[in-house]
Amino acid sequence: MTSEATSQQAEHIPADLLAEIEEAITHYPVSKRSASLPLLHLWQNHFGFIDDTGIEWIAAKLELTPVNIYELVTFYPWFRREAAGKTVIRVCRTLACAMAGSYALREKFCEAAGVDAHAGHHGFGHAPPTSADGKFSVEFVECLASCGTAPVCLINDELHENVTTEEVGDIVKQYS
Ligand code: FES
Repeated sequence: MTSEATSQQAEHIPADLLAEIEEAITHYPVSKRSASLPLLHLWQNHFGFIDDTGIEWIAAKLELTPVNIYELVTFYPWFRREAAGKTVIRVCRTLACAMAGSYALREKFCEAAGVDAHAGHHGFGHAPPTSADGKFSVEFVECLASCGTAPVCLINDELHENVTTEEVGDIVKQYS
């Protein structure tokens, strides 16, 4: 992609996001490629997902080919290529949490948030099951590095520990 094309796309990027991107790149003076993950996080935080436009824009910005960025987006389950709900509930399903009841917990979160637990396609960049009003998505994730307080879930950026099925309704209300 040419620098001219890059600057045309940049016109559609909000100034505050662009400033954050430029600042992030300065942290990697030796290899701009190392800024790929930080830029993907910034993009998803802002837009909610990373579509082909985002992949191409970031690749051009870092002087890479789109496949260099595409392979990251499709490798890390954290990144999405489709929009999810406004609040994303991530329930850990790795051993400690699974043994502490995280499968029942996910079912309970789905029920309380109006999400069809079996709808949609989980993983591989697709949107997780989402409520009809677009307020909530619920998905399983792997270890959230808080095994000692299992079961845990991450709701947007907040970690909830020792979560019981009894408190799920109140937790969901906090985000409604
Ligand atoms: S197994 Fe759930 S936080 Fe580690």
